[in-house]
Amino acid sequence: MTSGKPTVFVETWGCQMNELDGRRFVGLMKGGGYEEATSPETADLVLLNTCSVRDKAEQKVYDRLGQLAVMKKKRDGMILGVCGCVAQQEGEALLSRLPYVDFVLGTGRIEALPSVVRRVVEEDDRPVEVGFDLDEVAYTPSAIARTIPHKASITVIEGCNKYCTFCVVPTTRGRERSRRLADVVEESRRLIQEGVVEIELLGQTVNAFQDPETGEDFADLIRAVGTLEGLKRLRFVTSHPKNFGDGLIEAMGPKPSVCPFLHLPVQSGSDRILNRMKRQYTRSEYLDLVRRIRAGVPGVVIGTDIIVGFPGETDGDFEETLSLVSEVEFASAFCFVYSPRPHTAATRWENDVPRPVASERLTRLLDLQQEIQKRAHRSLEGERLEVLVDGDDKKGKKSSGRSPCNRVVNLDVPRRFRPGTFVMAEITRGLPNSLLGVPVAG
Ligand code: SAH
Ligand code: F3S
Repeated sequence: MTSGKPTVFVETWGCQMNELDGRRFVGLMKGGGYEEATSPETADLVLLNTCSVRDKAEQKVYDRLGQLAVMKKKRDGMILGVCGCVAQQEGEALLSRLPYVDFVLGTGRIEALPSVVRRVVEEDDRPVEVGFDLDEVAYTPSAIARTIPHKASITVIEGCNKYCTFCVVPTTRGRERSRRLADVVEESRRLIQEGVVEIELLGQTVNAFQDPETGEDFADLIRAVGTLEGLKRLRFVTSHPKNFGDGLIEAMGPKPSVCPFLHLPVQSGSDRILNRMKRQYTRSEYLDLVRRIRAGVPGVVIGTDIIVGFPGETDGDFEETLSLVSEVEFASAFCFVYSPRPHTAATRWENDVPRPVASERLTRLLDLQQEIQKRAHRSLEGERLEVLVDGDDKKGKKSSGRSPCNRVVNLDVPRRFRPGTFVMAEITRGLPNSLLGVPVAG
């Protein structure tokens, strides 16, 4: 505030795409003369960058907006904008319902932020910008206010065309739009020059990427970015099983920079439910894909997402999910109780799994997954893993980072390492959700 410049604060909830969009908002406003504030209390412009993937996330948005409204009442001139997925989903309705919201900016109109803010300040307007430009992804890499020097995310494809029957993302993020491969490579190269050693490519279905001009696919992109001089780790998220061809398995093959970790949501182990979810693969196709990936990418570790209590899920269907989880032995699993979402096909179906039944299924699934993780992590005791230090652990007592296979490793020594440092660690203890290790000579 000392410089007299106006200030912006962005509060982001939800996925990595939202996180990156949050940094895009800050970068765009900085380009327009703003400074970043450290809290909403001191900011002239406050943006709530929202998530609507499950009902709980959306309800939190309204609670938080209520709190921000109280803050705004006490302060003259504070501008409050809603962006992200709830903004996209609700549009105009947000403005009519919430008189204290100054503007609504959808996920496809991020670059319009400076002009929207100008309209609020200069024209006393209450803009709603929620369209999608279907031809091109408007994305200015230089206007991203990145905070971590050694790691960077890059959006390569926006939107999703899959329309899984439970999922609101095709509504909130629009149709698939890929960036040009050459632009992604150029952005990667620039980031590496600036000191980035780990890049994560982002997309709701990242492996559906296809260059709009040349037709190059995601395997081509992995090859192009994965061989850039100076890049130590390349990750990508989220892969859809349907788009996972042999070409991509080959591109992931022995290449030092491509991390042996995949997030490959399965959602259910029952063919009947997979079909009702419109996932476009069967249980056996998924299992076969896992086998082919494991054969082609040595040491690969696979994580997943699972939904329980989807409409029509019987005890038998759920048992099939449990048996698939036992068979694959995922390294990690995000498990959710089904939540009906607006504009989705499943929301019209009877939600016939009682909440207590769904909760009990969730508990059983989480227990099984914990057992699997405990076993896997214990079997790593005595092994050596390379750790890229991110900062301190949750208690702030040890340096913490990730292995190439995406496992959290906390370094069990008093010494602290700078974020961005590579440390070779011997694993001394495998806990259910993390590993303990001590540094050893590389
Ligand atoms: N492809 C996306 C998926 C977005 S949603 C990605 O980038 O991760 C993330 C996960 O949330 C999904 O894989 C699914 O398991 C879960 N999910 C999505 N919609 C849901 C709903 N209506 N109820 C419960 N879980 C849901
Ligand atoms: Fe959602 Fe299915 Fe796309 S989970 S993001 S509609 S692949």
